[in-house]
Amino acid sequence: MEPLRSLGRRAFKPVYILYYKLLFGRRFPFSERLAARVHAWEMATGRGDAPVAKDVWEEQYRRGHWELMRGLDEAARYSVIAGYLHHLKPGGSVLDVGSGEGLLRDPLISYGYARYHGIDLSEAAIVQAAPRRDERTTFAAADAETYVPPGRFDAVVFNECVYYFNDPVGSVRRYEPYLEEGGCFVVSTFRSRRADVIARRLAEVYPLLEETAITNRKGTWVVRIFRP
Ligand SMILES: C[S@@+](CC[C@H](N)C(=O)[O-])C[C@H]1O[C@@H](n2cnc3c(N)ncnc32)[C@H](O)[C@@H]1O
Repeated sequence: MEPLRSLGRRAFKPVYILYYKLLFGRRFPFSERLAARVHAWEMATGRGDAPVAKDVWEEQYRRGHWELMRGLDEAARYSVIAGYLHHLKPGGSVLDVGSGEGLLRDPLISYGYARYHGIDLSEAAIVQAAPRRDERTTFAAADAETYVPPGRFDAVVFNECVYYFNDPVGSVRRYEPYLEEGGCFVVSTFRSRRADVIARRLAEVYPLLEETAITNRKGTWVVRIFRP
């Protein structure tokens, strides 16, 4: 049974490649069914950058899996994002969508910020963020795809989370009304087929102000600034 299943998975790979090359985010007959098939294949083959159930995030945060984000090999990405945020609006306000335990807040301290609000699907992540809370720093457990933010922000950050959304581009666009005049989206993604096509689709919708790739032994992340 297993050899047959693995053959079936290998046979589906060209469909997966074609889907992300040409079809992702487009509407056509059976587009939803195809998206569901691709998603099921991603789950079965352990692709790490596709939507997963809330329970999975809760379990991963509880057992400390995401402590890996505190490592030196992740530090450059937070520094680049914090540097961009400071340059775009010194002392501005930041909504960090999919914030995890709020690690991005730390490099922002030395720059200064008016307000940092982090939201994450995982309640366990938000519990871990608690030591960072103060009068300017708040967190909420919520699904980014339906969340209504408390006001407007100078920047809305999607740091390593857009590919976990069912509708990545639509979910970013939902936050447009919550940007201050001249505000920006900051989107960081680890390079993958899904991440690259999401970035291409976002660039079809919004002007790309700047982008920087960060490469180390772990791989490559791209941080992009979109100004609607
Ligand atoms: C790879 S972690 C990145 C965490 C954080 N941005 C960082 O860079 O340290 C992805 C995060 O996205 C969150 N996430 C996934 N789907 C989400 C959703 N629909 N709404 C809000 N957060 C979500 C996960 O719970 C997880 O904390």
